Amino acid sequence: METAQARQSAADALRAAVTALANTPSAADAPALTAQALLAAVLGLSRAQLLAHPERMLSAAEQAAFAPALARAAAGEPLAYILGRREFYGLDLEVTPAVLVPRPETERLVELAVARAPRRALDVGTGSGCIAVALAVNAPGVSVMALDVSPAALAVAARNAQRHGVSDRITFAQSDLLAALPPVPAYDLLCANLPYIDTDELRALPVAAHEPRLALDGGPGGLRLIERLLAQAPPCLAPGAALLLEIGAGQGPRALALAQAAFPGANAAIVPDLAGLDRVLTITP
Ligand SMILES: C[S@@+](CC[C@H](N)C(=O)[O-])C[C@H]1O[C@@H](n2cnc3c(N)ncnc32)[C@H](O)[C@@H]1O
Repeated sequence: METAQARQSAADALRAAVTALANTPSAADAPALTAQALLAAVLGLSRAQLLAHPERMLSAAEQAAFAPALARAAAGEPLAYILGRREFYGLDLEVTPAVLVPRPETERLVELAVARAPRRALDVGTGSGCIAVALAVNAPGVSVMALDVSPAALAVAARNAQRHGVSDRITFAQSDLLAALPPVPAYDLLCANLPYIDTDELRALPVAAHEPRLALDGGPGGLRLIERLLAQAPPCLAPGAALLLEIGAGQGPRALALAQAAFPGANAAIVPDLAGLDRVLTITP
């Protein structure tokens, strides 16, 4: 039976949650936002609805559901995994621990891809399908081949395509980079956000504790997969095709050198993100 003392208001629950999250590095910059997002999800409310009624009393069942969600966040688990969703390029996407949590930096690559109005695009290392789905939704004439080496990621990506009504324009296939594709010059755009973190650096990063290593580890130096992809790409690209590859801050000069070696004579450039950091390697004819 519920006791009056045991029950909390939404405001009480949020105050206690902010305290619980204060020492969690991944939530420490925004503990209030994290607490609000979690409690709103548990109560089935929007954050605005929650904040409009701080006096709302939680039932025992709601408190019991909030406690484990808060414990996961306090242990550093990404909010997107706890909620099972993340917004990307204005789309609500399913996210599970099988996929990288889509990052706002990757929206830059999608913007560049949409602006090219491609007809047949490749998305290599599709993960949650965020790039493929956002491209298909925003470039209506495109059909996309989305590849990943992880079957678990491909299942999430396929559900995201279905959720946004673009399943008929995205084909998903398991592949080590482009190995499963016939060497036919079929694609006018190649997009990829492959793992690009240096193996040694990754060991020290908190992100490695929760997100799949397969989605993060770019090998020694970080650019091993990108280098392999650049070598494999030419037979699959139509004349005039463009490549858009996400890279990490500070990797611009090395990425440019790889691009010039693999595509001599093409225009290779680095597009920065909103923070001014190296973010997308572009290779255009
Ligand atoms: C950095 S995550 C990006 C996921 C998604 N595209 C995004 O932007 O959020 C990299 C993805 O590449 C996949 N991957 C890793 N190695 C691969 C390989 N050799 N061939 C194809 N995909 C690979 C991982 O499974 C992961 O889903």
